[in-house]
Amino acid sequence: MKPINVGLLGIGTVGGGTFAVLKRNQEEIARRAGRGIVINIIADRDIEKARKIAGEDTLITSDANDVVTHPDVSIVVELIGGYTTAKELTLKAIENGKHVVTANKALLALHGTEIFAAAQRKGVMVAFEAAVAGGIPIIKALREGLTANRIEWIAGIINGTSNFILSEMRNKGLGFDAVLKQAQKLGYAEADPAFDIGGIDAAHKITIMAAIAFGIPMQFDKVYTEGIAKLTGEDIRYAEELGYRIKLLGITKRTPKGIELRVHPTLIPSQRLIANVEGVMNAIVVKGDAVGPTLYYGAGAGAEPTASSVVADLVDVTRMHTADPKNRVPHLAFQPDLLSDIPILPMEEVETSYYLRLRVMDKPGVLADISRILADLDISIGAMVQKEPNQGEDQVDIIILTHLTVEKNINSAIIKIEDLPAVIGRVTRIRLEELSSNH
Ligand code: NDP
Ligand code: HSE
Repeated sequence: MKPINVGLLGIGTVGGGTFAVLKRNQEEIARRAGRGIVINIIADRDIEKARKIAGEDTLITSDANDVVTHPDVSIVVELIGGYTTAKELTLKAIENGKHVVTANKALLALHGTEIFAAAQRKGVMVAFEAAVAGGIPIIKALREGLTANRIEWIAGIINGTSNFILSEMRNKGLGFDAVLKQAQKLGYAEADPAFDIGGIDAAHKITIMAAIAFGIPMQFDKVYTEGIAKLTGEDIRYAEELGYRIKLLGITKRTPKGIELRVHPTLIPSQRLIANVEGVMNAIVVKGDAVGPTLYYGAGAGAEPTASSVVADLVDVTRMHTADPKNRVPHLAFQPDLLSDIPILPMEEVETSYYLRLRVMDKPGVLADISRILADLDISIGAMVQKEPNQGEDQVDIIILTHLTVEKNINSAIIKIEDLPAVIGRVTRIRLEELSSNH
């Protein structure tokens, strides 16, 4: 059988990795797919760079429209990133009857509903394994492997750049900016690294996973998002002393009141496997009602790990493109006319535990005042530690861990605690999740 032709948009970090993996493993891949998979045209702004990577046998153009309209191309791989041009090109490829493979989580989190509807009308597939957690086949696991389950919750380290920064800061004592530069050099960071540090990239990914896990539309605008920029070395150290690690987690949870959808730095018990995930590695815990908790681990970014997922999608599309569209796995795991309108919970209604750090005057009655505020708001204290004051100082740090409470109660408590005359400055609040199997 003749090979299937692929058009590649963008031969940067992931595009270059995809080209290399397809070429290196072409025989093995063809044996799996049932025919060869060949990139026959590439669009990139930098033709010289593209030529250097792809050699002389591949058509190279600077006009991406040449790829999405090319009559010989069956699958378009979108690896340019962003959501303006990428959206136009993706929709144009679909209109031209091409299947699409993309690693672009921003595009899908924001415009997935429109893109999947267009693909549905046209009877083509949009595959996006690489869009969440780089090389980990989490989309396949959620959409197919766990299909018997009612998913209860997902919690994941899903931004390699942030995890790399937190790990390097903790293990090597390196500064934030130096580590970020290293992540950019290694090709992990987004074009705008504020997406990584600010939690936006993780918010894109948790939006996609929530849609597939619960059969709901993509609702990126409803994700509560907080990044790692405000984390301090002392919070990382205090957390360790109490038996916790701080990780940037994407969390989505089904509750009787609605679905939680949030990204924020989180204390997790250091004995959990996920707490020990370091560097650019990602890990995702998925709790299903039948299977219980399951853990998926692997490289969350980088050229070839991400290419591994892109190529897996190419093989899937090659195997399935002649199948009746009704018999393919639905884009969001659930049949498109059977999506649920279960609401996303506002952050104020979310229930979790908290780490609070505050600086107070070292004098009698302060702890009693703080305890009273918490008790009045029905917040139960799990642990309270008063650090030794530095020599000659009359101020001390107090660390409080709470049991489960509703976010709006902790917000009220923080306002009242900050109003106490003996409390100096602002209260630092970091959410805490036990991630236990019976949670
Ligand atoms: P890069 O910036 O390394 O590569 C993008 C390439 O596309 C560049 O060569 C760029 O050229 C080119 N390009 C951009 N716009 C156009 C256009 N309009 N026409 C032609 N070429 C264009 O990005 P990555 O490979 O890192 O990321 C690609 C996608 O994969 C993104 O959506 C990203 O979020 C996602 N992703 C990335 C991962 C990673 O580890 N890097 C992991 C998982 C997903 P120029 O440089 O001149 O702008
Ligand atoms: N910038 C992303 C990260 C790339 O660091 O995880 C993978 O999606």
